[in-house]
Amino acid sequence: MRDAQPTTIYLSDYRVPDFLIDKTELSFELEEAHTTVNSRLYLRRNPEALDQSAPLELHGADLSLESIALDGRELAADEWVEEGELLRIASVPDNFTLHCVTRIYPQSNTSLEGLYKSSGMFCTQCEAEGFRKITYYLDRPDVMAEFYVDIIADKSLYPVLLSNGNCVLEEDLEFGRHRTRWHDPFPKPAYLFALVAGRLSRVSDRFRTRSGREVDLHIYVEDKDLDKCEHAMTSLKNAMRWDEDVYGREYDLDIFNIVAVDDFNMGAMENKSLNIFNTSCVLAKPETTTDAGFQRVEGVVAHEYFHNWSGNRVTCRDWFQLSLKEGFTVFRDAEFSADMGSPTVKRVEDVTLLRTAQFAEDAGPMAHPVRPDSFIEISNFYTVTIYEKGAEVVRMIHTLLGAEGFRRGSDLYFERHDGQAVTCEDFVRAMEEANGVDLQQFRRWYSQAGTPRLAVSGEYDEAAQTYTLTVKQSCPATPGQAEKLPFHIPLKVALLGEAGQLRLNLQGHKADPDAADNTERVLAVTEDTQAFVFTDIPERPVPSLLRGFSAPVRLHFDYRRDELLTLMAKDSDGFCRWDASQQLGLAEILSAISAQESGQAAVVAEDFVAACRSLLLDESLDPAMVALMLQLPSEAYLAELISPVDVQAIYRAREAVRKGLAHALRSELEACYGRCDVEEEYAANAEQIARRSLKNTALAYLMLCEDGEVYALARRQFERSGNMTDRLAALVAIVNAAEPYKGEALQRFYQDWQHEPLVINQWFQVQATCRLPGTLGRVKELMSHPAFDIGNPNKVRALIGAFCGQNAVNFHAEDGSGYAYLADQVIELNRRNPQIASRLLTPLTKWQKYLPAAQTAMKAELRRILAEPELSSDVYEVVSKSLQ
Ligand code: ARG
Ligand code: ZN
Repeated sequence: MRDAQPTTIYLSDYRVPDFLIDKTELSFELEEAHTTVNSRLYLRRNPEALDQSAPLELHGADLSLESIALDGRELAADEWVEEGELLRIASVPDNFTLHCVTRIYPQSNTSLEGLYKSSGMFCTQCEAEGFRKITYYLDRPDVMAEFYVDIIADKSLYPVLLSNGNCVLEEDLEFGRHRTRWHDPFPKPAYLFALVAGRLSRVSDRFRTRSGREVDLHIYVEDKDLDKCEHAMTSLKNAMRWDEDVYGREYDLDIFNIVAVDDFNMGAMENKSLNIFNTSCVLAKPETTTDAGFQRVEGVVAHEYFHNWSGNRVTCRDWFQLSLKEGFTVFRDAEFSADMGSPTVKRVEDVTLLRTAQFAEDAGPMAHPVRPDSFIEISNFYTVTIYEKGAEVVRMIHTLLGAEGFRRGSDLYFERHDGQAVTCEDFVRAMEEANGVDLQQFRRWYSQAGTPRLAVSGEYDEAAQTYTLTVKQSCPATPGQAEKLPFHIPLKVALLGEAGQLRLNLQGHKADPDAADNTERVLAVTEDTQAFVFTDIPERPVPSLLRGFSAPVRLHFDYRRDELLTLMAKDSDGFCRWDASQQLGLAEILSAISAQESGQAAVVAEDFVAACRSLLLDESLDPAMVALMLQLPSEAYLAELISPVDVQAIYRAREAVRKGLAHALRSELEACYGRCDVEEEYAANAEQIARRSLKNTALAYLMLCEDGEVYALARRQFERSGNMTDRLAALVAIVNAAEPYKGEALQRFYQDWQHEPLVINQWFQVQATCRLPGTLGRVKELMSHPAFDIGNPNKVRALIGAFCGQNAVNFHAEDGSGYAYLADQVIELNRRNPQIASRLLTPLTKWQKYLPAAQTAMKAELRRILAEPELSSDVYEVVSKSLQ
């Protein structure tokens, strides 16, 4: 819990550490009532410290200190003092060892940070500042030490004892206990420390690195989950190979372990050679896991593995640099997933997340730059801005330098900074120096928050045969940043003519040497207003803009309808084709909103229906792309485009358009469903995933026809499908329809899967996201269901998080009941698990976007939370900033 005055930490206050730790020896005695931690730290004064007589200040939180000795001499009570999270020893020599014995209580640690217990096993989560809950330490990422770790525990309860690096000793002790000793030869910051103890089974494999090192791979899980490890193991081996091929990075130890735990605040953690995973990001089999689940496992396994270089070998100097490792690693895992599956689909999915969650964050009270200037609680900064926008910033560097130039830059970065704790600036400088380019203006992407807007217009001069694109950029104010300087924005464009893409000659520029046929070009937008003149343009073109979503901006171009239809049907850039379909869908929804306002029925425009029909009929298209283009802009994305947000009106209009399409295209949807409904052995490959995605998109539309025939189709799919993707899609369809079979289907699903917690989470989520009235009542009932557990973050996310974050029409009920419910849950979780409480809050923080009545009700709930005694720093920071 926070002190009276929560303190803000500033990047500008960064100082090198006063002391360094060369070696850290830890010994853990794990017992049922408590754990005793013995630590011996080999400290010395940092020769680069500003103050060579500074006291030693160690971080510590929730620790009970049993003894403290310096160079073997027990310290007297007046030789040290504890103040908040700091233990200060005023006078210390330049070189010394510090021996501390602390007692901690993992069994009652519900914050899931530090050392805690999850389903009978001990595990740790130290990033960002959890190590201080284990022992007194210099808990900052620029202090890197070599770790030796002893773990002592009861052998029958905890047969498996793991830590980082290599196991160097195993021995049995008296009273049925045993000890293992681990040594990690790579110096590391405390946030990468990990320990696991439990009764675990494992699946093993081997990987031979390019230079011939044999690596033992193990995935540790509960016995019942041994049949769900194959996909993670395959993904791990693919990731190891890919990092060698694409980045020239090899694994550096003889052992790589993954452990699955049920109770975990985030997705997974890249602890050196001992990755700890949320079960939801490692376990997968066709009967229990959806296609999206399989893809998440592949992506997260790769992400954590890639951190071995981008995060561990080269780490962050301080937490303001978090995106240095996270943005880069998300970019790496996105490229990996694209290579393993469908690049365009992956790109569209990532852009969708960015344009909903990240753009919303950038426009809200918690907006912050990719490299923040200040924070109260670092846990609040594991955000879509740090991760996803950070990845877009790295992607833009990749776009500007090209694949080879980017590789030259990453090689220099890894070589120059191996074993160091560095900054975003070091990354950009390596990219610059390896390529001889100047990224001075580009650096603003790291320091300025907010989503830039590009207003683009085009003018064709028939007489001169020129086409001029005029680009104006601006960026709205964000907290603490009223004025913004222009960004360096890579704007990838093409010009479509009747017979295809036109050759691009840009006035005042040489031809782009990288573009093979010179029909696509990256424009460097660097000024407030800039004109780009293309010469020798024989006809009035349709511009294809921001191809591949080349920059994280909101782009506006005043397209005519027929131009959007052309882009949707013909653009060679998959992202732009899809985006054209979204702009047309938006226009339909906007016109349905106006129709509703004037009391008329919404009618879907004929040309849009025809465009959707040709998508459904064209068997040469990638079914995954067809599915994506048929899906109208999500309610979350619409909330970013329409202001103020009238949740109910948007929902009704969107449903009306969906219904209109379903009726108009029923026979095509049925035919498409039939075509995609093939009997085959499940595989999580791009081709099958695409087919299932289109089939289930068709099913969702068909359900809107609301008759016995389509209900029977959903019921058949629910009862017969052997994979969770199809079964869950059918359940969602049934639950959201006025289908009498609903209760029975939910019950059957529960009965079939009650022994699988991850499936039961999906069962909670389906009910929490039901669009029909009465859902909040059902959610409240489910909170007392025996399968629900408020201490398990996955369950909290599946029920409370899903209702508040993915069910706008019910969360924003006009009586304010959704807001009050969320505030109650945040207050409850604030004590138990501050990180989860704070994350859950997000939907309430966006109050400025909504209608006045909703704003008032949301703010009242935020104030009610703020008035609570003993708010955690996590919740305090988000609530207080939201009310500013
Ligand atoms: N570094 C981890 C990852 O991105 C995230 C861990 C963050 N944990 C936390 N409690 N904030 O893969
Ligand atoms: Zn990460």
